[in-house]
Amino acid sequence: MATPPSLTPQSPPALQRMAVPGGYGWPVVGPLWDRLQYFWFQGPSDFFKKRIDKYSSTVFRTNVPPAFPFFVGVNPNVVAVLDVKSFGHLFEMEVVEKANSLVGDFMPSVNYTGGLRVCAYLDTSEPKHSQIKNFTLDILKRSSRSWTSTLVTSLDSMFDSFDAQLEGGSSASYLFPLQDFLFTFLSRALLNADPSAVPEIKKSGYIMLDKWLALQLLPTISINILQPLEEIFLHSFSYPFWLVKSDYQKLANFVKTEAKETVQRAETDFKLTEEEAVHNLLFILGFNAFGGFLIFFISLLSSLGEQKSVHDELRKEVREKLSNNVLSFETVQQMELVFSFVYETLRLNPPVPSQFGRARKDFELSSHDAVFEIKKGEMLCGYQPLVMKDPKIFENPEDFVYNRFTKEKGGDKLLKYLFWSNGPQSGTNAPSASNKQCPARDVVPMTAALFLAYLFQRYDEIAISSSSFTTLKKAK
Ligand code: HEM
Repeated sequence: MATPPSLTPQSPPALQRMAVPGGYGWPVVGPLWDRLQYFWFQGPSDFFKKRIDKYSSTVFRTNVPPAFPFFVGVNPNVVAVLDVKSFGHLFEMEVVEKANSLVGDFMPSVNYTGGLRVCAYLDTSEPKHSQIKNFTLDILKRSSRSWTSTLVTSLDSMFDSFDAQLEGGSSASYLFPLQDFLFTFLSRALLNADPSAVPEIKKSGYIMLDKWLALQLLPTISINILQPLEEIFLHSFSYPFWLVKSDYQKLANFVKTEAKETVQRAETDFKLTEEEAVHNLLFILGFNAFGGFLIFFISLLSSLGEQKSVHDELRKEVREKLSNNVLSFETVQQMELVFSFVYETLRLNPPVPSQFGRARKDFELSSHDAVFEIKKGEMLCGYQPLVMKDPKIFENPEDFVYNRFTKEKGGDKLLKYLFWSNGPQSGTNAPSASNKQCPARDVVPMTAALFLAYLFQRYDEIAISSSSFTTLKKAK
């Protein structure tokens, strides 16, 4: 392990003070040029990497999309924070404000969220944030009792269908079945709502969510397969809500009627209105949970496909630790290698790559190498895929080291630098009403570990290629 420096800003030896390097260029032209570099000519990772090299600093000024011509009132100017230490300031709620900054200075229309600012857009200073965050933490606590059994029921149905497909063919694509599975599992586990009760939701609920997510996020994400059409049609303006209005209403009705008990608890125990409960629950289900897990499970399966040489070791650990062959939080918690594999996937492919926060006041921001003056109102932007490859923290940062996070490798100490959840994976802070860390910080890796344990319990051999299972050989 590299010797990680302290995350606390003023650690000795005293760091050199510097003006933040970089700049924003000419009005209109500067942001547009940076946008084209970011989305088209360089791509987000190279965009940030090249500027780290240019300024010899992991902290610098630049523009990030969206910008020009139709994003009126969106300020693309940011201070990029690209090492573990400077990124850590984004978790200090006394210096960073998080109102409306989930995806940067741009915020999708509130029409997409029932006319309300849902939890993820609220700052910790807003009383509503505490009410909704505590409600979410309560949902997760209650659902933990049935989480594993609900997960296993949904996995059984998905993998029975893959087995049948592989009997008659050479591959089974998982892109759509994975979404169907996640939508059903998460509706049941988080909302206590069964999609089967509403045939249209059962059939197309996840597709409705896909479209709703895509329209909100398109201006800020890079697909980079259709240039220059992508720049002209996907990144130049925000999409109107009416394109998905009817689907959104169907999903909101599903939550209102099928998650009635959960909605009522929000009203009685957390003093939310019915509207606030429904739209926040739909956002938690569709954006936070479904969106997050979908991206994460796709990268987890692709890591599994690429790391075939470690399957035997993972399978051995799973089968040794499973008492009575029953999957549970307790048994899976003992699977150190499986967890390490999950954490390494989250390190190299953080599902939510960019994080933002606005300076609440003037403050001093430290990187590993220098201290910078930040002025009240300036927007900080962290790009996790680079931060999680910080060479001062992670040895061989570019490599997938499946056992990096095991105790033997000293990896448990590294967990405090694993930031996928907008906060450290371990340490004194936990997700709470006074911070903006994902309330599912622990349940997400646990669910992924359960998923892997399920696979290695069920199959003696697994092969994956191009988003499809090509071999699933059942355990004898
Ligand atoms: C793999 C799955 C998930 C990923 C990758 C993920 C990631 C994140 C991240 C990065 C944030 C912070 C966003 C920011 O402010 O910059 C966040 C916030 C949040 N997440 Fe998750 N999340 C996942 C699953 C879930 C689940 C299952 C829930 C449901 C309980 C959830 C509920 C929330 C909520 C309510 C917030 C806002 C927290 C606040 O405002 O204080 N997430 N998530």
